[in-house]
Order: sequence, then C-alpha cells, then structure tokens
Amino acid sequence: MNDVEDVITIDGPAASGKSSVARRVAGELGIPFVSSGLLYRVAALLVEEGAGDPGDEREVMARLTGTVVRLLPSLQGDRLTVDGRDVTDGLHTDAIDASVSAVARHPRVRAWVTERLREIPGPFVIDGRDMGTTVFPGARAKFYLTAPPEVRARRRVGERAADLREVADAMRRRDRLDAAQSAPAPDALHIDTGDLTLDEVVSQVMDALSGVGAA
Ligand code: DC
Repeated sequence: MNDVEDVITIDGPAASGKSSVARRVAGELGIPFVSSGLLYRVAALLVEEGAGDPGDEREVMARLTGTVVRLLPSLQGDRLTVDGRDVTDGLHTDAIDASVSAVARHPRVRAWVTERLREIPGPFVIDGRDMGTTVFPGARAKFYLTAPPEVRARRRVGERAADLREVADAMRRRDRLDAAQSAPAPDALHIDTGDLTLDEVVSQVMDALSGVGAA
C-alpha cells in the first residue's frame, strides 16, 4: 500500500470544484493528480459494454472479477487500462454519467475501488467523495469543498451544452444518490467555493498545506 503520508485528499459533491482544484494543487506541488471517480467510471463502462444492469451488484462484480484494471498516474494526465486496453477517452460519456452513481452505490464495488486506489504509488493529490474518510483516513492533509447546488449547476452548464434546470435537477438527484459516501472527514478543512475563484481556492489550499509541511 502507498504511504498515506504522501496523499492529499480533496473531497466534495459533483461540481464543487474539487477536480479543478486538485489538478492545480497537484501541479503546484509537482505531483500527479488522481481522480478516484475514474475507477467507478471504468466499472460503469464494463457493465455498459456487457449490456449489464448497473443496479445489480453481482453483475457488476462479475465484470470486474478477473479483469486487470490499472490507474496509471502521470503528470501528463492519468490513464486507465482494462487488461492492457486504454479506455481513458471513453469514460466521460452521457451514458456513463447516467449509470455511474448506481454502480458506485454497491459496497463490494466500493471495496474494489478502494483496493485499486491503495495500490497507486504516492505521492499524489486525489479527489473523490470518501478519500479522507474511508480510503486514506491517514492522509497528510484533507480538504472538503462545497458550493450551493445552483452554483454547481451553473458551472456544469458551462462545461456541457445543456439546459440549466435539467442540469440542476440531475445534480440534486445525484447528490441524493451519492450522499451516503459523501460525508466529510472530521479532520478535513472545509472550503465553500461558491464565492471564490479557482485561484482563491487553490491559494487557500496551498496556505493550509504550508501549515502542515506539505508545500
Ligand atoms: O467525480 P466523478 O464525476 O468522476 O465521479 C463519478 C461517480 O462516482 C459519481 O457518481 C460519484 C462516484 N464517486 C464515488 O462514489 N466515490 C468517489 N470517491 C468518487 C466518485
């Protein structure tokens, strides 16, 4: 297992800004950024390829068992392989966005992702929902980003061409589905990103890291 002293966790709900912040912080520290959601997305992809039911835990696990999935962190951008096949570019489709929450709710799938994440050699900055609570409880530093749902919905519309109300509704649905695994770690520093620019959030994180000797 990787040395948790090398891990910085940034958790939060969808569109809270965690991946942009984690990527920037990793860049400033000169270490890779790892997006834990990619592994849930791979699981959803494998189910989709087999025309399986994302709500059926046994079916999802059957797809994952005996399959070698690797998350290869890199300063140029992480790659995901399935039995040596690079699947990275197919993980952010609308179909996977729609099915991944169902896949990520299964306890055995979460345990499988946790094992894969703990295999990744540090150091890295990782974003997700339960990085600071379940996966890396001993991480060197932990952050929890939030923002009001309307702000997050507006950010999403900027990222994808879609109607604002539709996006806000989908976001509330996903928040509900993700709630169980999205509780903040008790020792995480909370940052509300709603009224802050990306630069401002990054500098708050970097300031906090200099306080714990990570920057
Ligand atoms: O961050 P993302 O959009 O790539 O996450 C994809 C899905 O996986 C999303 O439904 C939340 C879920 N997820 C999770 O449950 N736990 C994580 N650590 C990361 C993502």
